[in-house]
Order: sequence, then structure tokens, then C-alpha cells
Amino acid sequence: MFRKTLLSGLAAVGLLAMGGGAEAAEAGHVTDFSFSFEGPFGSFDQSQLQRGLQVYTEVCSACHGLKFVAYRTLADPGGPALSEEAMHAFAAQFEVTELATGETRVAAPPDHFAPSNLPNAPDLSLMAKARAGFHGPAGLGVNQILHGMGGPEYIASFVTGFTGEEKVEAGVTLYENHAKGAWVAMNPVLSDGLVTYADGTVATPEQMAEDVAAFLMWTAEPKMMARKQAGLVAVLFLAGLTVLLYLTNKKIWLPYKGGKHA
Ligand code: HEC
Repeated sequence: MFRKTLLSGLAAVGLLAMGGGAEAAEAGHVTDFSFSFEGPFGSFDQSQLQRGLQVYTEVCSACHGLKFVAYRTLADPGGPALSEEAMHAFAAQFEVTELATGETRVAAPPDHFAPSNLPNAPDLSLMAKARAGFHGPAGLGVNQILHGMGGPEYIASFVTGFTGEEKVEAGVTLYENHAKGAWVAMNPVLSDGLVTYADGTVATPEQMAEDVAAFLMWTAEPKMMARKQAGLVAVLFLAGLTVLLYLTNKKIWLPYKGGKHA
């Protein structure tokens, strides 16, 4: 019985590995950008998040929504951390429609970013968690332990990954993207100097792609900084506890183990 379960378990793992392998082959090429928030001590770069917010607002929001993100969170610590006034001013540029009355009014901090404008453009709030940049080997996910999930790397590679090839299929223009390894309905949008950064950073396509990908990592995991801090405290606490328990254990067993003072 046990043997049978074990065997079918192994077969399932084998199948998974094969399936994963096939997917990885199609997945295309994702560049391993290095982001400031990687690793156990990494943290978001506040200016990068602010630049990413600018790229999202000026470029991506023409089609994509961020419907799970509230304007007020832009002022939270650990994120773009806009000042309260800047956050209020940011929200006030937009309008929202009250569901109950159908009336349109100026957006306030508790309101959310607008949903996607285009029906086929996916909402980007959780995109950095919905895509994995790194797979394998053989679908085992070992690479993910070493390099992380690669969601933001995937986004940055995707928006800079257009090969320039396009074709029309059933009346829709499709563009070849080598990060996704597929033909997609999104056209290449980033070009040199498309936005003018307030902090003077030169807006190359790669720069904008990395900035917006970092910003989308924050929208997908706004409490990442708090999580890492709590994790660090927990590990230190447990390390301290380990030492105390070790010493307690020694003391308890001392009379029976024939120590010096027994
Ligand atoms: C002109 C409209 C438009 C703009 C502007 C635009 N996109 Fe898209 N995007 C789309 C459409 C449409 C799709 C769906 C493509 C498909 O699945 O064929 C898409 C898909 C995506 C995807 C999902 C890819 C996948 O793996 O399925 C990501 C990520 C993305 N866009 C990011 C961005 C970012 C970041 C920006 C801003 C720099 C941006 N897009 C600007 C229209 C747009």
C-alpha cells in the first residue's frame, strides 16, 4: 500500500518536472536585474518607487489599472512614502464615479486607482506576484530559491522584451515578446526620454522598466519592509531562546550526567 502511494507520488513528481520543463522552454528570456529589495535585508529604494509611480501614471495607466491599490497607501512608510500633501495632490488629479449615485467626483485618499482602461490589459496590482521569472531546473523550483520568484524581473524584461516583429491575426495586431516567449496584444511603449524624472535620472527604457517593475513589486507586496523587519526580530529572538534553552537543558541534566558539581 505504502509502496504504491510512494510510486504514484514519484510518478506525479516526474510528470510535474516534465511539464515544468516544457513550460520553462517556452517561457522565453528573463534578465536577472538586481533590485534593492532582494535578499533578507534588501529594502525598497524610495526614489525608485516614486519614479516607478511616475512611469505607471504617465505611461502604463493609459491601458492598465491598479484597482487594489488605494491612493492613501502612497504615503505609507516602506513604500514611495509621498508626503501627506503630495499624496492628497496626487489623488486629486483623478476622478471616481460613485457606484450608488453614478455621480463623478474628485478622488480622495481612500479611493483606489482606476481599473484597466482596456478590457484585455490585465490589472497590474498583483502582477509582480502573478508571474515568475525563474523556473527550473526541470520545474523543481530550485532556481527560485536562489534567485527569488523573479516577478519584477519578468515585468522589466517583458516591457523591454519586444523584438520589433509584428503580425496581424484576425484583425488584431500582435507583437513578438521574447520575455514572454509569445506574441502579445501589447505594443512596445517605452522609448528613450518618454518621461522626465524629477530627480534628474536619465529615462532610458531599461531605467523606466526597472523603476516601474520595482513600483509594481511594492503594489503587490506593500508590507514587504515590515515583513522583513519582523522576520529579523523573530530570528534574533529565536537565536536568543535557543541559547537560553540549551543552558537550561544543561543545568537540568547536570545532576544525572555526573558534571563537576553533581
Ligand atoms: C496601449 C496599451 C498598453 C500600455 C500603454 C501598456 N500596456 Fe501592458 N498590456 C497591454 C495589453 C493589451 C496586454 C495584454 C497582452 C496579451 O496578453 O496579449 C498587456 C499586458 C501586460 C503585461 C502582462 C504580460 C503577461 O505576462 O501576460 C504586463 C506585465 C504589462 N502589460 C505591463 C505593462 C507596463 C509595466 C506598462 C507601462 C510601462 C504597460 N504594460 C503599458 C496594453 C498596454
